[in-house]
This record gives sequence, structure tokens and C-alpha cells, in this order.
Amino acid sequence: MKRAKISIIGAGNVGATAAHWAAAKELGDVVLVDVPQIDGVPQGKSLDLSQAAPIEGYDVRLTGATSYEATANSDVVIITAGLARKPGMSRDDLLIKNTEIVKSVTQQVVKYSPKSILLVVSNPLDAMVYVAYKASGFEPQRVIGMAGVLDTARYRCFIAAELDVSVEDIQALLLGGHGDDMVPLPRYTSVAGIPLPELLSEEKIQAIVKRTRSGGAEIVNFLKTGSAYYAPSAAVVQMAESIIKDKKRVLPCAAYCDKQYGVGGYFVGVPVKLGSQGVEQIIEVPLTTDEKKLMDASVDHVRQLVATIQI
Ligand code: LAC
Repeated sequence: MKRAKISIIGAGNVGATAAHWAAAKELGDVVLVDVPQIDGVPQGKSLDLSQAAPIEGYDVRLTGATSYEATANSDVVIITAGLARKPGMSRDDLLIKNTEIVKSVTQQVVKYSPKSILLVVSNPLDAMVYVAYKASGFEPQRVIGMAGVLDTARYRCFIAAELDVSVEDIQALLLGGHGDDMVPLPRYTSVAGIPLPELLSEEKIQAIVKRTRSGGAEIVNFLKTGSAYYAPSAAVVQMAESIIKDKKRVLPCAAYCDKQYGVGGYFVGVPVKLGSQGVEQIIEVPLTTDEKKLMDASVDHVRQLVATIQI
């Protein structure tokens, strides 16, 4: 069987670490691309990762490039290009600059890989995935944003630590945009099937929700020179894996919603079935009045962001 091909645009911390996770999982051959101004960086990082292969035992080819020809006929393209946050910045502060970057990257990508599935990581996420969708001309199922897998991973990590149980036993759902108004849903969160509210007080749950919402900023404040990359890259590679292996995992992703959740044609975080066709289904779960209010506010924020950009 033909090996899958994954291109990763942006050879910074998120891109290079995504290449690392993808290679370690033997998901397919990996092409790491960045701009000509840093020629040598994608090549050097992919050569370094190739030399780890005999130690770690992965049989995939890793290539670095500063031109998009090397990405031709990719199955999945992960877009991480763009500026990252510095302390004191919100994801929204990156809007104008990253719109230009994501638009031009997407145009190049689709020229060489017209059948690919695009996974967008650049921030502000919900607006950038919309930019990639418009710039690609792809049908919406093939353009997906990474946010919910990361945000639920943070949420699951904090719950596991609080209860001192395995992270593997925490299942969680989170809706809305990848902003401070994301909507974690404790009612749909369980520990080995036991609903979270049976195990933690409302006060503890709310503290975890609050920490999850500012989970990205917490890391930016520690790092000072950039934002998180281990968990964001692991998250997008989990999405790529579900697509490449047609696993049909149900993961929270930024998907194009029209009637679903009353969104009206924007990308927001919802539970989706991810398979070889990309988003194969959007799952709508019933929400309480309060949950719906939070979701609507989060979607409104995404609408406002998208309204301020020229695509
Ligand atoms: C974060 C960035 C990737 O949440 O948005 O860490």
C-alpha cells in the first residue's frame, strides 16, 4: 500500500514537533516547509529527525524544503505558518498578519495538492481556518481547524491531576471557538463513564474550566518568547492519524457549521467524525439553555473576527 504523504507548513516549534510526532507514529512521509528567508531550517530539522529514525525505528522519509513543489500530492497538509503570541497578546491580535500568511500559504498548497485535506493550526484559529477554506476553494469537509483536541487535552490533563487518575480515563467534550470563551461541557465529561459532576464539586469543576480557557496564555506567560507547541502539535497529529487511517474518531474540531448549532456558515469547535473524507459527520448534542448561551456568545466572537478580515 502506498505510504501517506503529510506536508507541514511552518518549520517552527509547532511544525517541527508535529513532524516528530507524525514520524514517530509512522503516519507517512513528511515534508517540512518554510519560507526561503530561513532556507536550511526545514532541511536541517528534517535531516535531524531522519537520523533519529534508526534509533526510534520509524520507516518514513522526512524532507525539508523552501518551495511548495516538494509538497505535491500530499494527502494531508498541516498549516502552522504564522506569528505566535507573546505575553500580553490575545490570539486575536495576530489576525491581520496571519490572514495574509495563511491565505498565501493555502493558495500555494492547493496548487500542488488539490486533493488534500487541510488541517489549520495558525491563530486566531477559527478565523484562520475560514481564511484557508476561502483561499482553497475546497469543500468544507476538507478544511478543518485544530483547537478542541488541544483544549480538551488541557481540560483532561487538569481533571486527571485533580482526581489523581489516569489521563486515559478522562473523556471530555468542548464546544465553541478557540478563545477565552470556549465552552467546556462538564455534563459531557466523564471519568471511565462516570459523569464528572459525580466526582468533583461544582467549584472545583469551574476552577478547571477557567484554567482550561486560559490554558494557552498560561504557557505563553511561562515561555515569554512564544506559545505552546508540544500539545498543539500532538493534537493536530491525532487528527491527521484519524484521517490517514480512516479511524473515524470522534474529536472536537473546528468544522464548518451551517445549520448545525445554528452557527450559520462559520468554523467553530464541534464534535466531528474524522475519516478519510475529512469531516464525515458533525454530531449535534442537546444543550441546556445556559450551555447554549455560552455557545452562542463564543460563535458571535468568531463571527466578529471573521467580519474584520478581508479574504
Ligand atoms: C494555544 C495556542 C496554540 O492554545 O493557541 O496554546
